[in-house]
Amino acid sequence: MSAALAEATVAEARVIGVERVGDYQVLSLRAPEIARRTIPGQFVMLSSGALLRRPFSVFRVEGDAVSVAFDVIGAGTSWLAGRALGDEVSIVGPLGTGFSLDGSGPVIAVGGGYGAAPLFLLAERLRAAGIEVHGVLGAARAARVFGADIADRIFDSVTFTTDDGSLGIRGLVTDALNDLAARTRASRIAACGPLPMLEAVSTRARELGVPCEVAVEEFMACGIGVCWTCVLPIATGTGEPRFDRSCTEGPVFDGSAVAWG
Ligand SMILES: Cc1cc2nc3c(=O)[nH]c(=O)nc-3n(C[C@H](O)[C@H](O)[C@H](O)COP(=O)(O)OP(=O)(O)OC[C@H]3O[C@@H](n4cnc5c(N)ncnc54)[C@H](O)[C@@H]3O)c2cc1C
Ligand code: FES
Repeated sequence: MSAALAEATVAEARVIGVERVGDYQVLSLRAPEIARRTIPGQFVMLSSGALLRRPFSVFRVEGDAVSVAFDVIGAGTSWLAGRALGDEVSIVGPLGTGFSLDGSGPVIAVGGGYGAAPLFLLAERLRAAGIEVHGVLGAARAARVFGADIADRIFDSVTFTTDDGSLGIRGLVTDALNDLAARTRASRIAACGPLPMLEAVSTRARELGVPCEVAVEEFMACGIGVCWTCVLPIATGTGEPRFDRSCTEGPVFDGSAVAWG
């Protein structure tokens, strides 16, 4: 048995909530052990019908419930979107590393598309500890920005960016970072979204001299460190990268440690 699996809970969890958040589907499962232990940035593997389990970041933890937010894109997410209240879904978690929860000052949370989901849990936990969290949520167009309707409640401030200008600033999430970092005196950036976005955010963070953590969403087959489909190159300083598994050594990495491109 892998170490990750040995530390995770495997459960048949009852569906206790099904809702829409904008373009996305939110599924809440009763999984008390996982709810108790999850830290923001960690993920769960969910059964997806007859296929392999699929990985999803934890979006919300409320009492005994763990919620995930997802985009319906293929067979697995279509199966999950078809679950109704009272159905059972097999869940494994919590898995992987989480974001740092300590902070010497304000944190900027940068999310691309559904990648914003774990940042909502991060903001909740940091704000409960008295740390300010400023969100930058971006996507191609307004409907693809995750949580636009609820973000005001979750972050101390929120800036939206869209490629087509249909919500907030027309442009990329990085376009909002210089001003925001200066205005908030941010001590850290936490980001989750597509790999090119994470590379751009890490580069900008380095230019700004602000530490940056990124949660990657690489393809994962097992989610527990066995299959090595999810590897990410990590700079070693020797010219030859080391390959870390994003399911066990990640998904949260120090942005400056990743060998981007
Ligand atoms: C750690 C982690 C956390 C994730 N969190 C979320 C989340 O909170 N919400 C969410 O909607 N999705 C999330 N994903 C992506 C999610 O796992 C995939 O969307 C899902 O596996 C697709 O399954 P499917 O059977 O519906 O589609 P499939 O038939 O497997 O795939 C259809 C297409 O989706 C794309 N795709 C598949 N997997 C991924 C992936 N990992 N990343 C990007 N594109 C992919 C590919 O283009 C693929 O061709 C996460 C992935 C990881 C690794
Ligand atoms: S998904 Fe199998 S090792 Fe990471």
